[in-house]
Amino acid sequence: MAYARVPDLHTVAPGPQARELIEVDEQYVSPSYTRFYPLAVKRGEGLALEDVDGNVYLDFTAGIAVCATGHCHPRVVAAIQKQAAELLHICGADFYYPPLKDLARKLAQIAPGPSAKRVLFTNSGAEAIEAAIKVARYHTRRQHIIAFYGAFHGRTMGALSLTASKVNQRRRFEPLMPEVTHVGYGNCYRCPYNLTYGTCGIGCVSQFEEKLFRTTLPPEEVAAIIVEPIQGEGGYVVPPPEYHPRLKALCEKHGILFVADEVQSGIGRTGKMFAIEHWGVEPDIVCTAKGLASGLPLGAMIAKDEIMDWPPGAHASTFGGNPVACVAALETIALVEEGLMENAAAVGSLLMERLRSLQSRHPFIGDVRGKGLMIGIDLVQDRTLKTPAPAERDAILQKCFARGLVLLGCGENSIRLCPALVVTPAEAETAVEILEAAMVDCGL
Ligand SMILES: Cc1ncc(COP(=O)(O)O)c(C=O)c1O
Repeated sequence: MAYARVPDLHTVAPGPQARELIEVDEQYVSPSYTRFYPLAVKRGEGLALEDVDGNVYLDFTAGIAVCATGHCHPRVVAAIQKQAAELLHICGADFYYPPLKDLARKLAQIAPGPSAKRVLFTNSGAEAIEAAIKVARYHTRRQHIIAFYGAFHGRTMGALSLTASKVNQRRRFEPLMPEVTHVGYGNCYRCPYNLTYGTCGIGCVSQFEEKLFRTTLPPEEVAAIIVEPIQGEGGYVVPPPEYHPRLKALCEKHGILFVADEVQSGIGRTGKMFAIEHWGVEPDIVCTAKGLASGLPLGAMIAKDEIMDWPPGAHASTFGGNPVACVAALETIALVEEGLMENAAAVGSLLMERLRSLQSRHPFIGDVRGKGLMIGIDLVQDRTLKTPAPAERDAILQKCFARGLVLLGCGENSIRLCPALVVTPAEAETAVEILEAAMVDCGL
C-alpha cells in the first residue's frame, strides 16, 4: 500500500486508539524508556509510518538509524519470509548453516581495509561492544580501555562503562567495569580543550602523549581505544580530517587496538559502507548493529583475523547470527551496495545544503554537521557563546511531530536526522519545510 500523501494527519496525537494503547503500555512497560511523544505505530512503508489511528507520518528517525532500507522493504521482507519457512534457529555457536557463513564472509569482505577479518555475531550493538572489549583484552593481555566523553556504546555493564553521554544512563549503576579512562572527543565546534581548529595541532589527540600517558595511564597497559567515527547519541559530532588517522597512528605506536563503533554510522548511512572510511583508517575491530539487518536484531564484531585468536568457548551467544536476521542483513547489504549508499550521499548533500540555508536565516542554529544521512543540527541561544538551547530543541521536535514529521534529538541540544537510506529528494525537501515551519511555530 503506497500512501498518497505523507505526512497525512487526521487526529491530534494521541488519537483514541493510541490513547488506549498508551494507557496499557504505561501500566506494564518499564518506566526507564524515554518516549518523547505519543506516537503509537501500526505499519511502516519506506519513510511512511501509519499510527494506530490512521495518521501517516514522515519518519526521519528510521527506528533510530535501524530501518536502513526503509520500513518493510519488499526484498528484505521476502528474504525473511523465505528463511522463516525454512529454518528459524539452530544456534551458530554450535552448528553450521548457510546464512551465517554467507554473512560472515560478506562482512569480512566489506569491512574497511585489506587485512583478513573474522566475525562474531551478536543480538545488539551493546553486545558487539562487549565482544570487542573481551577480544581486545584477550588478545592484548591488557586490561585498560580508553573511551570518550559524549560516547554512547550501549547499556550493558561493559558497554555502559564506556558510555559517557548522559549521567542518567549511569546513575546508581556503579561499580561498573574498572580500568576505563574517558578523554575529550575531537569536537571542533565545542573543543573540550578550548582550542581552535587550524591552530590546535589536533590537541585532542596529542594530549594522550603530552599528558595522559605521562601522568596517569601507562600506554602499554591499554588494550583498546573504542571510538565512534562520528559521535551519535553525543550530538552527531564529526571530528576533523586528521583525527582518526592520528588516533590510529597513536594506537599503532603503543600496540593499542583501534576499535570503531559503527553501530549507528555503519552500513551505508554516511555514504560509505563504514563511516571510518571517510578518514581512510583501517580499524583493528569494527562493531556494527542497528541498520545491519533493516530492523531484525543483529550485531557483529568484525576483527582482524590475527586478533581473533581466542579458543572455542571463549565467547558466543545463543541467538547471535540467527538465520532469519542473517538473510535480512545479506539483503540489506545488497540493497545498500546496489544504490542506497549513493542515495545516502546524494540526498545527504541536498539535506545539508538546505539545512545550511536554514541556518543562514535562523541565528539559533549554531551548527549543521554530518556525513550522508547522519546529520545533526546544534541549537544555541547565542551563536557567539554557543550556549546550548535544549528547551528550544525539544519544542521544535514537538512541533515537527504535530506537523507529521518524526524526528528525535541527540546530545544535549541537537536535532538528529537519520532517515532510511531510501529517502527521496522530495521527502528531504518536505522534512526541511516542516522543520522550518516548526521553528516559526516556536517563535524562533
Ligand atoms: C554508537 C552506538 N553504539 C552502541 C549502541 C548500542 O546499541 P544497542 O542499543 O543495539 O545495544 C548504540 C545505540 O544507540 C550506538 O548508537
